[in-house]
Amino acid sequence: MKVLITGGAGFIGSAFVRLVMAETGWRIVNLDKLTYAGNPENLASVAGDSRYRFVHGDICDASLVESLMVEENPDAIVHFAAESHVDRSILSPEPVIRTNLRGAFTMLEAARRHKLGRFIHVSTDEVYGSLESPVEATEDFPLNPSSPYSASKAGSDLLARSYFVTFGLPVVITRASNNYGPYQFPEKLIPLMIANAFEGRELPIYGDGMQVRDWLYVDDHCRGILAVLEQGRDGEIYNIGGNRSLPNLEVVRQVLTLTGKPESLIRYVADRLGHDRRYALSSEKLMRETPWRPVTDFETGLARTIEWYRANASWVARVRSGEYCTYYDAQYGAHRSLQLSV
Ligand code: NAD
Ligand code: DAU
Repeated sequence: MKVLITGGAGFIGSAFVRLVMAETGWRIVNLDKLTYAGNPENLASVAGDSRYRFVHGDICDASLVESLMVEENPDAIVHFAAESHVDRSILSPEPVIRTNLRGAFTMLEAARRHKLGRFIHVSTDEVYGSLESPVEATEDFPLNPSSPYSASKAGSDLLARSYFVTFGLPVVITRASNNYGPYQFPEKLIPLMIANAFEGRELPIYGDGMQVRDWLYVDDHCRGILAVLEQGRDGEIYNIGGNRSLPNLEVVRQVLTLTGKPESLIRYVADRLGHDRRYALSSEKLMRETPWRPVTDFETGLARTIEWYRANASWVARVRSGEYCTYYDAQYGAHRSLQLSV
């Protein structure tokens, strides 16, 4: 089995590459542009393996993608590459629209031309939009995205589905809830709070902090994708959730407890524009059709994650320099008055 991964140098993609390299004999080709979120350090453990190849490039570059398909002739594509951060999609939507829509289109077109055996489109529960309690989205729920990020993901989901319906491309879509774990870029809630807590900086909570997310440990997500790759049915959508809904404030309080820092570090700041109040999804379908289950409970996963960030302070320091400072200032500086002096 030869699998072409896009975005494999990011948080979830790199966890997937490490998992597949450790647990299968497959060959992996990883196409990644190495944006601010892509980091070769995340793949240091597999870089020297003869079954692994890294290709530095853009998924919107159709001729590069075509030559890679000819050269490698993969059995499957697992498409992770995306601009993945909601706040950045609000600050600057253009790269999000380009990569998440144009990039998905480029990969689908290449897959169609080469009659690929399987195309996994990695998507998100954000496409369902905000849901009232106690509703949990099933795969047939209407799409109701709120941000440029989630709208671009919903658009690419629909495009991927159209390639199954129109061209018979064996597409399967996964929609996961909020991931956390090692190697997550410290712009997302959990790694940002951990990094700020370690440094004794303020922890910015948007609005009242009572927005609810369903937390999924990254390795559980990757095992879910693997289950879908091997056992999912063509043309289907599979939700992958952690079955652990928590308000943001509760998550941040747990981070403070586990890092031994005071609640006085919490700083309530201006809310995110268009902020979705609550995500929740049912993974019943995936659990019915495969043996997959989310096995990492939140407390264990969070403690493990905090230990990883503690042990990898130099990784954090490197990614929190340069462009990160510009982003942090734009996101938390002027209107939220938080400063990062790196
Ligand atoms: P990430 O931001 O950590 O990584 C994205 C990767 O894609 C990076 O390595 C980056 O260099 C690469 N990339 C970006 N634009 C590219 C382009 N034009 N060409 C080639 N490579 C490019 O993202 P993540 O959190 O690992 O998310 C991966 C996927 O999972 C995304 O599709 C995201 O929508 C989806 N997802 C994420 C979550 C989550 O909680 N993080 C949950 C559900 C679904
Ligand atoms: O639900 C899946 C989605 O989860 C993925 O598709 C996205 O790629 C991923 O980024 C994530 O989106 P969210 O917007 O839910 O994640 P984020 O970590 O940015 O925010 C989680 C919650 O925490 C959200 O309600 C906003 C809030 N938040 C976030 C940050 C960064 C804060 O209160 N303060 C912050 O500084």
